[in-house]
Amino acid sequence: MKGKFIMQEILDIIEFKKQEFAHLPLFKFMQDKSIAPRQRLSFAPCMAHFIMSFSDFNKYIFRVRNYYSDSKIQEAINEHTNEDEAHSPWFLVDLEVLGLNPQCNFAKTIDFIWGEETKITRQISYQVAGLTLQAEPVIKLVAIEALEAMGNVFFSVSSKVTSELEQITQKEYVYFGESHLEVETGHTMGASEVEKYFAEIELTELQRQEAINAVEKIFNIFSQWTYELLTYAHNHPVELAQSELEQSKSKLAICR
Ligand SMILES: [Fe+2]
Ligand SMILES: [Fe+2]
Repeated sequence: MKGKFIMQEILDIIEFKKQEFAHLPLFKFMQDKSIAPRQRLSFAPCMAHFIMSFSDFNKYIFRVRNYYSDSKIQEAINEHTNEDEAHSPWFLVDLEVLGLNPQCNFAKTIDFIWGEETKITRQISYQVAGLTLQAEPVIKLVAIEALEAMGNVFFSVSSKVTSELEQITQKEYVYFGESHLEVETGHTMGASEVEKYFAEIELTELQRQEAINAVEKIFNIFSQWTYELLTYAHNHPVELAQSELEQSKSKLAICR
């Protein structure tokens, strides 16, 4: 039976969890100006499995072409996936620009992507796919809203790091930078009337439980991920160019 619960409750939970997520140590590290900016994005290779899988999520998991019910929700999801499936190649560009694209033996690369250091990164895909592949559109929508909320936290911080970097290198960072943040509104659809429609969707008790479960599981695995990324950054110091060393030394002097 519908009518007792509305989506706004779930969106409020997502908003609350988003604020908690923003306070995780990874984001403090990324904003620590005593550390060279490139070092603060040095976890990028560790992200590879999920960033590249995210394109497939949009194509093969979130998007459904032949749907019979909840067509307005699925329609909005499909439209969203058209935008989001196209962002993964920007990550490859940034790996190169960040100097994090070593010439590597193929077997070694595979071993890295499926290795111990990146095991949480892979589990994101398995968990999110598990929660959404067979789910009805409303649950897919909840999952996307949660992903968008965390994406917005991440890109708000990473784009500040890249604007520092741009001043040093005069290069553009298309994945971690401002231009990506601009298309990541933090929601499935940017338009406020669509968001209002989403907020008023009525849920059954079962859908409400499924939605809360999806939100909790997704925030949980992503929060764990931030610790994996932080550990990776600590274990893989980047070689800094002289200009970067000078820049971070002068920043440190200002901090003291
Ligand atoms: Fe994106
Ligand atoms: Fe997105």
